[in-house]
Amino acid sequence: MGSRLGTVVVTGAAGRIGSAVCRHLRDEVRRLVLVDRVPTQPQSSTDLTIQLDLADAEAVTAALEGADAVVHLAGLPDEAPLADLLESNVLGTYHVLEAARRQRVGRVVLASSNRVTGFYPVGQVVGPDEPVRPDGFYGVSKVAVEALGRLYADKFGLSVVCLRIGSWEDEPDQVRYLATWLSPRDGIGFVRAALTAPDVHFATAYAVSANTRAFWDTTAGAQLGYLPVDDAEVFADGVPGSRDPVDPAARQGGAFTDAAYSLRHVRADEPSW
Ligand SMILES: NC(=O)c1ccc[n+]([C@@H]2O[C@H](COP(=O)([O-])OP(=O)(O)OC[C@H]3O[C@@H](n4cnc5c(N)ncnc54)[C@H](O)[C@@H]3O)[C@@H](O)[C@H]2O)c1
Repeated sequence: MGSRLGTVVVTGAAGRIGSAVCRHLRDEVRRLVLVDRVPTQPQSSTDLTIQLDLADAEAVTAALEGADAVVHLAGLPDEAPLADLLESNVLGTYHVLEAARRQRVGRVVLASSNRVTGFYPVGQVVGPDEPVRPDGFYGVSKVAVEALGRLYADKFGLSVVCLRIGSWEDEPDQVRYLATWLSPRDGIGFVRAALTAPDVHFATAYAVSANTRAFWDTTAGAQLGYLPVDDAEVFADGVPGSRDPVDPAARQGGAFTDAAYSLRHVRADEPSW
C-alpha cells in the first residue's frame, strides 16, 4: 500500500464521482477520510468515515485536521432552487476552504463544472480564461465556487485547483456527450494530477476526455500534467443522431440552457418585479 498522497479527505465520498475517486486513490494514500452527509462504509484499515453536513462549519474543520489535501465533491450536482445551491455548493465550499485554511491543508481540489460556460456556441473552443456564461443557477453556484477558490489562493495562500468536470459517464450515450464525455479513467487521472501537480497557486482546467468533438481547450489540463486518453468518438455509431449535421451556433450546454430547465426551480410565489 502506498502513501504518496498522504492524508486525503474526499467530500461527497458516497456520490457517483466520490465513490470512484475513493476506490481508485485508496492504495495511494496514507489515510482516506470519506466525508458525506449520508453514511459511507470503510473499505480498508486506512479509511476513516465521517458523516456530516457541509453546513456544519465546525464539523468540516474537524474533518480536515491533519489532511494533506482535500478533494471537494460534495454538493448539489444539477439545477435546483438557487437558495439550495447557495447553501450546499457556495456556503459548503466556503466551509471547506475556511477549514483548509485553518488546518493548513496543502492542496484543495474543487469540483467545478463545464456548466459555467454552457452558453458558448459549440462552434467555439472555450478555455478557462474566457468570461463565464453559466447555463443556469447551478452554473452560477459553480462560478461562485471557483471565485471562492481564487480568493483563498490569492488572499490566504492556499493551493487550489478547480476542475471543470465534463460528463462523467461510463460511456457516452447521447450526442452532447460525444463532446463533453469524461471517462472514469480520465476523471481519476485529472483528480490525481490535481492532487499532485507541483507548485500550483491557482489553476482551472476542463476535465474532459480527448474527444474528437470536444469544444473545450484542454491546455490548462496539460499544465497539471495529465493528458486524457479516451475519445467518445469510438462510441459514436451507437449514439442516436450522432451523424446528424451540427449547428455551430447551438449552445454547448444543450437542454441545460433552456429557460424551462431553470424556471421549474423558481418558486411561483417569489415576488416579481
Ligand atoms: N457527474 C458529473 O458528470 C459532474 C459534472 C460536473 C461537475 N460535477 C460535480 O462533481 C461533484 C460530484 O458529482 P456527483 O455526480 O458525484 O454527484 P452525487 O450527487 O452523486 O454526489 C454528491 C454527494 O455529495 C453529498 N452531499 C450533497 N450535499 C451535501 C452536504 N450539504 N453535506 C455533505 N454532503 C453532501 C451527497 O450526499 C452525495 O453523496 C459535484 O460537485 C458536481 O457538481 C459532476
